[in-house]
Amino acid sequence: MRGPRRRANETARPAPSVTRAPVDPSPPVEPYRIKVVESITLPSLDEREQALERAGYNLFNLLSEEVYIDLLTDSGTSAMSDRQWAGLMVGDEAYAGSRNWVHFEATVRELTGYPHVIPTHQGRAAEHLLLSQFAHAGQIVPNNMHFDTTRTHVLRTGARPVDIAVPEAYDCQSLHPFKGNVDTGRLTALLEGATGASIPLVMVTLTNNTGGGQPVSLANLREVARICHQHRKPLYLDMCRWAENAYFIRMREPGQSGRSVREIGREIFDLTEGATMSAKKDGLVNMGGFVATRDPHLAARLKEELIVFEGFPTYGGLARRDLEAVSIGLREATDERYLEHRIGQVRFLSERLSAHGIPTMQPPGGHGVYLDVPRFLPHLKPSELPGQALVIELYREGAVRTVEVGAIMFDEGDAPSASPLELVRLAIPRRVYTESHLRYVGEVVRRVWERRSSIRGVRMVEAPEHLRHFTARFAPMTG
Ligand code: F0G
Repeated sequence: MRGPRRRANETARPAPSVTRAPVDPSPPVEPYRIKVVESITLPSLDEREQALERAGYNLFNLLSEEVYIDLLTDSGTSAMSDRQWAGLMVGDEAYAGSRNWVHFEATVRELTGYPHVIPTHQGRAAEHLLLSQFAHAGQIVPNNMHFDTTRTHVLRTGARPVDIAVPEAYDCQSLHPFKGNVDTGRLTALLEGATGASIPLVMVTLTNNTGGGQPVSLANLREVARICHQHRKPLYLDMCRWAENAYFIRMREPGQSGRSVREIGREIFDLTEGATMSAKKDGLVNMGGFVATRDPHLAARLKEELIVFEGFPTYGGLARRDLEAVSIGLREATDERYLEHRIGQVRFLSERLSAHGIPTMQPPGGHGVYLDVPRFLPHLKPSELPGQALVIELYREGAVRTVEVGAIMFDEGDAPSASPLELVRLAIPRRVYTESHLRYVGEVVRRVWERRSSIRGVRMVEAPEHLRHFTARFAPMTG
């Protein structure tokens, strides 16, 4: 059995131009056909009300069967291809040295150029390994914007996460093409100021999930890498959505349109020391991840920790067949026809909402549409948790499950507020929903928008210390 190197359907080719109707623009036609279906049903309004109450008004507590269109996350929710499913059948479940591990390592090395690859069961395990080696109490970790798990792993070491995205990242209406960019002035100030000595590494998140799935430009990454090099600080990527980021570079950055996503990606990786990855995003799998580095000494320490927390370095907490699916998925995620359709779906939904005047983070990002909550519900105060109130209404209206990305997700008690943005994310799973599903979602959001002035706030009645959006419980405000 040969490895995934031979897979068809992945040569870099220019994205075909797609003709769009002028009145009702559609996303590009699906570059796949459906071989397996899973039925979904719309629960009645009564059932939705009961489900909300039982769930403590936290949509993480809903059963999947209570949801019609699930836009909670794009993470681990992709549909795998026939080739990935076939890959599962050639799982070599040896504890050590499985052939699927050989394919996995070869794929990650080929795409990224990082020599040391350490598999993990998902992204946060990679973050745990990397950050517990690098960060210590009293230190500072800069990142364009930390995702919630990254942020929590920094905090657990006693270090402080500092978000240094460009100011445009916080302005939903700015049309800046690379709102994920790092504010290089702030990075330089942190490195040259009194804090400089206490920065163990610099991180950049591709794309910037918490800021709306916005990409980072190649020019910005080159500059960040230059600054890090000058100050002898290692630069690590959170590369979860690197292929989507590279696609935006190809589409938006001057001089990049002739390059393939893989070429652009390779230049990005060449600028950095290593990365953490959740393969549940641009690996097109339901479970998997890795941490990779150029530093052999660090790799040795990471592997020791890996054995304690995840498993032997040739499986890292995964079944070996899963490594095969990741290896194939990582390659498929760089197919430009796939990316054109994927990014096109997000743009399609965003444009449908904009046509009704519904405020969203602009321009649309890579993996979801983000509603601009303060403009959607201007009558609610921050203490009335408007993001959560909106999430609840979208479910009540049409059993669409979304997630708040704002005060609830990011407030960590005494930690500095992570994000002045208040968003509700409609994350689009990869290769799962069709244009008519997206039209339905657009209609649900429109109906909630029409009755927005009658929407009341909510209060939190139970809250854990960390990552509270997963388990907190809420109650509607009355009176
Ligand atoms: N980094 C980013 C930017 C992420 O978006 C996520 C996960 C992780 C790290 C952690 O990866 O889930 O595999 O442990 N994001 C999911 C989301 C949960 O819904 O955006 P993980």
